[in-house]
Amino acid sequence: MDLFLEPGLYRRGSGLYTVNLRPGEKVYGEDLVSDGGTEYRRIDPWRSKLGAYVVQGGRLWPFERVRSVLYLGGGHGTTASHLSDLLPRGSIHVVEKSPRAFGALLALSERRENLFPIMADVQLPERYRADCGEVDHLYQDVSQRGQVEIYLENLRSALKPHGTGLLMLKTRSVTQTETPRAVLKQASRDLTQEGCEILETVDLAPFSRGHFALVLRAPG
Ligand SMILES: C[S@@+](CC[C@H](N)C(=O)[O-])C[C@H]1O[C@@H](n2cnc3c(N)ncnc32)[C@H](O)[C@@H]1O
Repeated sequence: MDLFLEPGLYRRGSGLYTVNLRPGEKVYGEDLVSDGGTEYRRIDPWRSKLGAYVVQGGRLWPFERVRSVLYLGGGHGTTASHLSDLLPRGSIHVVEKSPRAFGALLALSERRENLFPIMADVQLPERYRADCGEVDHLYQDVSQRGQVEIYLENLRSALKPHGTGLLMLKTRSVTQTETPRAVLKQASRDLTQEGCEILETVDLAPFSRGHFALVLRAPG
């Protein structure tokens, strides 16, 4: 790989890659590239907001020293699979309520020992707090009206003091009447009021229009 970005994250040309934890296996049809005896999986920024965050200039990589992640809204596991590559000795608890998506996560977790799918509603963190324990990082990607409230409920429940977080904010799910920037401003205010420090905000367009990635640190 041409350029080492962060532990486990690489760039070649315009492509962004993680080291494949399961060589030879694709998760969502992504490209596999071998180099120097290591196999890499390309992160598709059109499919993964984490990829879009880096491609769109995100500079703060909030996974340093992270061993445990609570991932809200795992979908079929596209991004969770890259986190699984990034944290081979970590644990990633992935909450998802759609039975279909959960089935895909379950199948993925059988091949990746650091993934722990939980079928639950992210609005009820008390249902899975005992499973995930206290975590180093809280990642959220759910398209729901009360995204910030959901994030804060989970933060209070499970994120360690000074833990890091990524909130993929879908502004159109919050309101259709206000501008995306106004929604972002209100979300930032709500998070700050809770004592969170917003470290970075990245617009994910054109990959995910109306989405912003907010990198934050939890209060102490
Ligand atoms: C945008 S998709 C996730 C894509 C995924 N994060 C990725 O990058 O691979 C949002 C997911 O959140 C799930 N979701 C939405 N509301 C939820 C809730 N209240 N509880 C649990 N999952 C929810 C949806 O079923 C959907 O799979």
